[in-house]
Amino acid sequence: MIEIKNLRKVYEHIGKDKGKTEKIAVDGLTLSIGTGEVFGLLGPNGAGKTTTIRMLTMLTMPTSGEILYDGHRVGEEEEDARAIKQLIGVVPQNLNFDQDLTVGENLELHARLYHMGREERERRIEELLEYVELSDVINDTVKRLSGGMKRRLLIARALIHHPKILFLDEPTVALDPQVRRRIWELIKKMAAEGATILITTHYIEEAEAICDRVAIMNRGKLLAIDTPKNFISRLGGFVVEWNEGVHREFRLFATREDASSFLGSLDEAASIRRSNLEDVFIELTGRKEGL
Ligand SMILES: Nc1ncnc2c1ncn2[C@@H]1O[C@H](COP(=O)(O)OP(=O)(O)OP(=O)(O)O)[C@@H](O)[C@H]1O
Ligand SMILES: [Mg+2]
Repeated sequence: MIEIKNLRKVYEHIGKDKGKTEKIAVDGLTLSIGTGEVFGLLGPNGAGKTTTIRMLTMLTMPTSGEILYDGHRVGEEEEDARAIKQLIGVVPQNLNFDQDLTVGENLELHARLYHMGREERERRIEELLEYVELSDVINDTVKRLSGGMKRRLLIARALIHHPKILFLDEPTVALDPQVRRRIWELIKKMAAEGATILITTHYIEEAEAICDRVAIMNRGKLLAIDTPKNFISRLGGFVVEWNEGVHREFRLFATREDASSFLGSLDEAASIRRSNLEDVFIELTGRKEGL
């Protein structure tokens, strides 16, 4: 169980005139994530998702607030910090490999950071490359891999020490639909095997497909948390859509009958469809997610 209590991160910017300004990246976040849950963090660019993950994974110090892993407070005891690092794996937003090393060498380097013995390293690397279907490229330099292969390698690297909690920061960005689906399958498989997963994404259908619960944040603040299904039914299961000039307008309705009668009252050509998490997202954040 991960508990986050009133978590804040304020960055200081030094401007051109040497004046200091403050940027509140995360503004009083409180939520908990259950063991074995696949939890999605959604929000527009700059919402504070990566900053939240960086604080949860001890890459950035919170300005204030608390993070607890199974009751152990992050940042309190050095021993706890070490135990928490063993517990978590991170797939960062940016590809941070040594691109001139091979796939195998990159994993080897990472395994050494966790003080794994030679035999264990070899066994684990072979096993993981099979898991993410990259065994054939073990001796290729990373720069020669496609984007989808690099993302899968990032996942393999994060899993090297058998973490029970996995953080994935936009793991399928810029991937084609087939590769994205393969990564979804991989995430679902890890969850089925008992991992707790926190994923950030800009692809709303991704959150709808794999997340048990979703938190929507904007400008550092949490707007709402719920299951995708509840979000959709809370806001209304049906959408009437129409165009006003170049803008797409839509309104949500609880029943198809209500939607139909509204449709009948419109002069413009309009259509009815079932609502999805993207409608919820736009309704709550008031802006379209950038793709
Ligand atoms: N190292 C930093 N120093 C100063 N400001 C930062 C730093 N990292 C992030 N910020 C600012 O904090 C805010 C939140 O950024 P963050 O990267 O957490 O957002 P995000 O939700 O991950 O966005 P994206 O969807 O674009 O990845 C932004 O306004 C950003 O400019
Ligand atoms: Mg980010």
